[in-house]
Amino acid sequence: VSSFKHLAIIMDGNGTWAKKRHHRRVFGHIRGLKTALRIIKHCSQIQIPFLSLFTLSKENFNRPAEEIELLIKLLDKAFDKYIPFLFQNQIRFCPLGDISVFSKDLREKLIQSQNQTEKHKGLNLILALNYGGRQEIIQAFRKAYVYYFNQSVFPKNIKEKEIASFFPSANFPNPDLLIRTGGESRISNFYLWSLAYTELFFTQTLWPDFTAQELEQILQNFKQRERRFGLI
Ligand code: IPE
Ligand code: MG
Repeated sequence: VSSFKHLAIIMDGNGTWAKKRHHRRVFGHIRGLKTALRIIKHCSQIQIPFLSLFTLSKENFNRPAEEIELLIKLLDKAFDKYIPFLFQNQIRFCPLGDISVFSKDLREKLIQSQNQTEKHKGLNLILALNYGGRQEIIQAFRKAYVYYFNQSVFPKNIKEKEIASFFPSANFPNPDLLIRTGGESRISNFYLWSLAYTELFFTQTLWPDFTAQELEQILQNFKQRERRFGLI
């Protein structure tokens, strides 16, 4: 669909996938990473302009340190391994979220990859890392406050567009469709502001089992939905 601009995915169910196989949770995450790569590749092939992956939520950081360290290590290693993939597929990489919690080394990798892929013309790949929807709103407030303070303006009639411009995700179109795998039906503090009119799709499929075929089925289903944006 040519008007389709932005697909967002909450990749859930890695732990459950592993548990069902009597494996440690880490196996689920390793498989989940493979799924993520397949889905990124597919979205890039079918020319979806923006793909957001809810990779690590702010809340995920409350998991046992062992799992967090492992997830970060996995991310870090994936980075080293798949940078060429970003170039081969002309993918623009955009980290989103508070990356100050990561090591200097990983932070630099994230920023560098963003800078190095900035001119790419293909898929915009947004990885939400230590991201929270409310935190993003808070950041927008803080930025707006400083901006208007410096301009000595009291923005009594601030408009929706102006507010939106302060969001760290301001440069991304609003998601057309949000898919959540893993059987839960909630937003879990992912994008809040920009999901206002987004179609939501929840699937029982655990993230490591999610395939490009299922994505295609969901996209077909999406096409059949009538988006009225409050009109009749
Ligand atoms: C999602 O899988 C991946 C991350 C949050 C990094 P989970 O780890 O949440 O898997 P479940 O929900 O326990 O099955
Ligand atoms: Mg989960």
